[in-house]
Amino acid sequence: MDSELRRASSLAQSGRLAEATELYRNILTRSPEDAEATHFLGICLTQSGRRDEGLPLLERSLGLAPQNAMYRQNYGLMLAEAGEIAAAAAQFERLVKADPANATAHNYLGMARQRLGAFDDAIRSYREALRLKPADAAAANNLGYCLLERGDIEGAIGCLRRSLAADAQNPMAHNNLGNALRARGELPGAVESYHRAIALAPGLPNAHHNLALVLRDLDERYAALEAARSAVHCAPDNGAYWQLFADLIAVSRFTAWDAGFAADCERLFSQTEVEVQQCAEAVLSLVRLGPRGRLFLLLLEHAIVADEAFEQEMTALRRELVTSPVSLELCCALAQQCFLNEYLWPELEEETAVVSQRPARTALEIAVRAMYRPLKGIDKPAGANEAFDRMWRRLVEEPGAEAKIEVPVLTPIADAVSRKVQAQYELNPYPRWHRAPGAGPFPLPKLLRSLFPQIDPAKLAAPDAPEILIAGCGSGRHAAITAQMQPLGRVLAVDISRASLAHAMRRCQELGLRNLRFAQADILELGRIEERFDLIECSGVLHHMADPLVGWRVLLSLLRPGGFMKLGLYSELGRTSIVAARELVKGLEVREARERIFALPAAHPARKVATLRDFYTASGARDLILHVQEHRFTIPLLAKAMDALEVEFLGFELVGPRRSMSLEEWDTFEAAAPDSFSTMYQFWIRKP
Ligand SMILES: C[S@@+](CC[C@H](N)C(=O)[O-])C[C@H]1O[C@@H](n2cnc3c(N)ncnc32)[C@H](O)[C@@H]1O
Repeated sequence: MDSELRRASSLAQSGRLAEATELYRNILTRSPEDAEATHFLGICLTQSGRRDEGLPLLERSLGLAPQNAMYRQNYGLMLAEAGEIAAAAAQFERLVKADPANATAHNYLGMARQRLGAFDDAIRSYREALRLKPADAAAANNLGYCLLERGDIEGAIGCLRRSLAADAQNPMAHNNLGNALRARGELPGAVESYHRAIALAPGLPNAHHNLALVLRDLDERYAALEAARSAVHCAPDNGAYWQLFADLIAVSRFTAWDAGFAADCERLFSQTEVEVQQCAEAVLSLVRLGPRGRLFLLLLEHAIVADEAFEQEMTALRRELVTSPVSLELCCALAQQCFLNEYLWPELEEETAVVSQRPARTALEIAVRAMYRPLKGIDKPAGANEAFDRMWRRLVEEPGAEAKIEVPVLTPIADAVSRKVQAQYELNPYPRWHRAPGAGPFPLPKLLRSLFPQIDPAKLAAPDAPEILIAGCGSGRHAAITAQMQPLGRVLAVDISRASLAHAMRRCQELGLRNLRFAQADILELGRIEERFDLIECSGVLHHMADPLVGWRVLLSLLRPGGFMKLGLYSELGRTSIVAARELVKGLEVREARERIFALPAAHPARKVATLRDFYTASGARDLILHVQEHRFTIPLLAKAMDALEVEFLGFELVGPRRSMSLEEWDTFEAAAPDSFSTMYQFWIRKP
């Protein structure tokens, strides 16, 4: 039997798993209690993807030979591979208990704990592994990774260098060292580390992705875009890599047709849950240089294109199509664009006449109608094509589902201004979003340390599993991002607008976000709830109240001492052109308002609003220049408010180099660069 076991083992080692499996089974028919055959049959089956059969055999082999450390280690590894991390950790714990000098088992235990998110326990295991075996490159690499997760950059760099001294050929250690150097601000060093990782493992997507991030920090946009492109080529199913690719394309403009890039952009737009809105104009610059093919249709279907000339071209194209609709696919794509912009484009009387008189029974007739109006009271025709089905889903089925959603009510809405603002957002939920911003996990303690490296870490102490309130969540994009970034946190998202909340609930359910609940509530009435929060986010909301400080105070009363608040408030300077536009269009309906702005001479201060994305949807344009209630702040006003509220200012969230400046210095900075906060002042405070 020994020779049979040896033969089965050599078959398994040379990858001939089916033959090895058969041999082990033969042995077990004759000797059902043979531990070795039971164990390795379990391994062969697990490695052939038959975990349900393999794992019980591995467990049984331990029943037959409970002291066999190698069997237990293998069982732990197979459990980990099967995603049963807690069970794997339990096996490694038994191993280290039986033999505390087993360095490998300590390392494996650390890896399991790390995957469970128990970083401090993992760090203890790795330290023990290294105490027992100081040149263990794997344990040093793992420890370096965990220390970095815990914000100990120097400790991480020390460990990663130690790992590389023991084994310079480990691409993951180079990659991790790159991350640590990036966190320390040593960007060229980080680039070098990622290049080393890539030289050792050209197909390591993570290293390409990280390289793209650091090149972006260095403002080397095109090199960053190429690195991000390599990452998506290596791992075409990874949404986070596609998201970075999209973000980097957004700041590019094409000057020549590039079929390779067009193919990558088509793949990008086909990722259902990657946000592509931000790269619409960049992709338009490519589409304009080539044939009006698939990418053009995808662009119309998935992104609001904020471009004046394109709007004119498409308005003219729609006019042609209404009289001679040549292609169902094109009509459907254009209808999707019109749905996204909420039928904002101007139409001539003759178009109105055709649309209102022509029947909408066939797929083509319905698609033509859908280019101008929401589809109501129309039956779906049989036998349409895929483009029509997608259009029907978004234009008919999804709004229908939202209308039926029951939104929980948390407080009444009594305040007169709240009701006025509610009416606006019931009609025009904001923002329009149809694809998920694929935000990866970014635990709050780590996020705070990365945003404010200059602040004493003790001040930034925050729970790994925070209670979070999103106050004024709108149509849910904001809440979805936060819920994705804080997967261990629990998020309550409230808004006054039922329509916005229904959209939010449908989208977040589709995204499978389980740590998030929604309710209709007026911030002004929230003082009555019992819950308290570690983090409150309120962006673009308080400035729509009669007195923003009243709402701000209510929110602070819900924040735990030592808790954090992220706010977004309008800047007086940042909105100069918007204020000028608001003055000009007061009292107008949204289409008239846009016409008035488009008709202004190019040099007019209000004309600039026609370059903003919000100007290209009905809800965005209303939010931008026709809002029923709007306050704006200056930095001295913010300082005064924070003094009165007795909160600590942590800093602004501004893309680019982080600056540890006082509010006075920020005021001078904004005066010199008045567009710095053109979207809003996005900043963080802490409740002492
Ligand atoms: C411009 S949107 C911002 C949405 C979201 N925070 C974001 O950044 O995408 C403003 C939202 O604030 C909500 N809002 C305004 N006043 C509110 C109040 N008193 N209580 C709750 N929500 C309010 C509106 O209904 C609207 O959805």
